[in-house]
Amino acid sequence: MNLDKTTDINIIVNKKRYSITIDNRTTLLMLLREKLDLTGAKRGCDRGECGSCTVLLGSKSVNSCQVLACSIDGKEILTLEGISEKGELSFLQKSFVRNDGTQCGYCAPGFIMSAYSLLQTNYSPSEEQIKDSISGNLCRCNSYHTILEAIKLASKQSSDE
Ligand code: FES
Ligand code: FES
Repeated sequence: MNLDKTTDINIIVNKKRYSITIDNRTTLLMLLREKLDLTGAKRGCDRGECGSCTVLLGSKSVNSCQVLACSIDGKEILTLEGISEKGELSFLQKSFVRNDGTQCGYCAPGFIMSAYSLLQTNYSPSEEQIKDSISGNLCRCNSYHTILEAIKLASKQSSDE
């Protein structure tokens, strides 16, 4: 791949199609935040360690700072903005609010997207499975306990529906 060149890509982000020309050095995180104005995914470490930039690429959660946008032509992406339901917070987002899931909140989008990915395939995860799903996400405010409780609450609600 020539990093000095540009590439035309077609992607679907939050169910909306985009045809866009990007510099080959552009990461998915840069594309989302700087070109598409979707700022839910946060830039923390920018080197795949903190998980604050987590989004879904297809059905998998990924660190968007580690994905080159030129490599995702034809793919579907889901960001924090895309999981709202009819303009309202999703049950997962609400459970973070109700449960005081975070303090400063910077890590929350990444935790929520990792948990969302888990709950897509496992409506009733065990505590270990939840911990495993968020093992790539860091919280500098040490809100791990309330984050875990928020995800448990959300999983209980989704399995009751
Ligand atoms: S900003 Fe991507 S993992 Fe930290
Ligand atoms: S609540 Fe501040 S980094 Fe997690």
